[in-house]
Amino acid sequence: MRVTWRQVDFIDIEKDEQGISLSASGCHPLEEAVSRIGKVPYHQVDQVIQGLGHEHQDILIKEALLKATDNWQFPYTEEELCHCRMIPAKVVDEAIIGGLHTAQEVGRFCSAGITCGNCGPDVQAIIDYRLK
Ligand code: FES
Repeated sequence: MRVTWRQVDFIDIEKDEQGISLSASGCHPLEEAVSRIGKVPYHQVDQVIQGLGHEHQDILIKEALLKATDNWQFPYTEEELCHCRMIPAKVVDEAIIGGLHTAQEVGRFCSAGITCGNCGPDVQAIIDYRLK
């Protein structure tokens, strides 16, 4: 299983009876954060997630651990998120992972949510899920 961001940063996930092993390739902060975490016993997954911050490496590690434990419930499932501007959900999500943590910042970056506004709650739902 793998978590990928920007097509260049990724975390590989391996599981065995003792826990979850993560390995990363990509930017230095991601590789360093993943190597610092090492192997996570299943009973410590929630504790590790609670200790993560909002930097991109933390957000990706959280995704990896949630996927490894079958608890990943991304709040948006369609490919296109903003129908006015034809903005894929992936573009919005990658912007959020990269540090745009308000709907206004995301809108300024990719135009999602700034026309009719109907997709605004979906943008906010992804922000909330990624940062909670
Ligand atoms: S659907 Fe995104 S602004 Fe209209």
